[in-house]
Amino acid sequence: MQQRMPRRRGRPRSPWTLQRRLVLTVVGLLALVSMTIGVVSVVILRASLLDRLDVQLASAADRSGAALGGVGDNDGDRPGDLPGSPYFGTPTADSILSGPAQPPGLLALVYDGSTITTGYTDDRSGAIEALTAQQVQLLADHVNQSAPVTVNLGGELGDYRVQAETSRSGTLYLVGLPLTGVAATAAQLAVIIGLVSLAGLVVVAVIAAWVVRLALRPLQRMTATATRVAQLPLDRGEVSLSDRVPAGDTDPRTEVGRVGAALNRMLDHVDRALEARQASERKVRQFVADASHELRTPLASIRGYSELTRRSGQQLPPDAMHALGRIESESVRMTGLVEDLLLLARLDEGRELDMQPVDLTRLLVDAVSDAHAAGRDYVWNLDLPEEPVEAIGDEARLRQVVANLLANARVHTAAGTTVLVALAEHDERAVITVTDGGPGIPEELTATLFERFARGDSSRFRAANAAGAPSTGSTGLGLAIVAAVVAAHHGEVTVDSRPGHTTFRVSLPLA
Ligand SMILES: Nc1ncnc2c1ncn2[C@@H]1O[C@H](COP(=O)(O)OP(=O)(O)O)[C@@H](O)[C@H]1O
Ligand SMILES: [Mg+2]
Repeated sequence: MQQRMPRRRGRPRSPWTLQRRLVLTVVGLLALVSMTIGVVSVVILRASLLDRLDVQLASAADRSGAALGGVGDNDGDRPGDLPGSPYFGTPTADSILSGPAQPPGLLALVYDGSTITTGYTDDRSGAIEALTAQQVQLLADHVNQSAPVTVNLGGELGDYRVQAETSRSGTLYLVGLPLTGVAATAAQLAVIIGLVSLAGLVVVAVIAAWVVRLALRPLQRMTATATRVAQLPLDRGEVSLSDRVPAGDTDPRTEVGRVGAALNRMLDHVDRALEARQASERKVRQFVADASHELRTPLASIRGYSELTRRSGQQLPPDAMHALGRIESESVRMTGLVEDLLLLARLDEGRELDMQPVDLTRLLVDAVSDAHAAGRDYVWNLDLPEEPVEAIGDEARLRQVVANLLANARVHTAAGTTVLVALAEHDERAVITVTDGGPGIPEELTATLFERFARGDSSRFRAANAAGAPSTGSTGLGLAIVAAVVAAHHGEVTVDSRPGHTTFRVSLPLA
């Protein structure tokens, strides 16, 4: 049983590039570190500011205690002891707030056993304001005498650090200092760290992107090399694989350099394999060319002797005459085969063709008249343009192309078939078409039609054409030669075939 992964909908997400990943990792880590440093710094700063505030609060509480303390025991050593001083009389919050050297924003609450008086100095106006009943309740709920606590009084006042004390005369009082300064300083530090980190992140991102791009540049050069190699037509012909990754990018001490070195080793290897392939192909071609060449002379002798013997041998019995005829015709066929093989071997070698302007009009007229002579019981039609058409090519080879196509139109169709040979100019090209009304090319052959020794079983017509001779001409090399010659002319050959209509179309560059 196979489990299918649920397919994601929509466009697939484009993968992250290495550069993007590296830069984002560096920036992310730095952001994490900056954030940790920022949080720790702010927390520590806040704690130490709070400590300092508590010290201030303690000394304010001391002073306040002193301001209240004198009430009742007029020993003359406190400002409140003096009649006429603002501290004289019942202890109130005002006695604390208007005392000397009290810090700004001080908050005070005094409970003398029966009444509660409250007040705080307004930071801006310096006036003394009273607390609301709600705020007094809040203070009463949270404050104890053991240590300073933070109470949120809401409204304009916000957080206060408050401590409760009892004066020497037994009055319960509490004093508070605003936390706004602490909060503001901590916030300021947080903002500064945030801004500096942000700037640092941007700078690091830019530098990281630049460094990574620089480091990855050799990979781009390797990609370019690999792409160039990939575009080479390595599968055929003689190609030299000289492209290599530049030496500077193959330092085995770096990761990227190792990739470059490996790529170069692979290219060396492929190059050697290519050379071996080309050498063995050369050898095979050379062998075929040599063998065909060597076979020509003995074949000519066989043919010559058999013809001579047949002509002069009136006294030979009829079956010997028949055998001689067969020897002669087979040697003709074999000569043709050898010539074809030699031609293909030479075309494979890429031997220079004798390129010249060729009058295709005349060439076709000649070819059709030859075909007419060879196949009198076929209908030969020729369709030529008014103006002569000239192509650049090797005349002998082009004649062979047309002759092969016309021979096929005759050999692989039944007698009486109509064959149309046409010439036209089309898109700067000369186009020759050979169309016949024969049975068409067998389907199993279409894929390999232009390959060597590809031929169909067309014995039905061949038998009729050859008047009983079992093997006439069919080698499967005709269209291979057509394709090779046309390719050597930078032309193109295509076929379109169905029963009753087969068209070969050859296009060649115009003169
Ligand atoms: N005009 C045609 N009509 C039908 N079949 C064809 C035609 N031309 C070629 N063929 C088929 O293609 C095969 C290959 O042709 P070719 O390479 O010329 O070899 P050969 O003619 O020697 O058999 C032929 O054997 C035949 O089956
Ligand atoms: Mg043929």
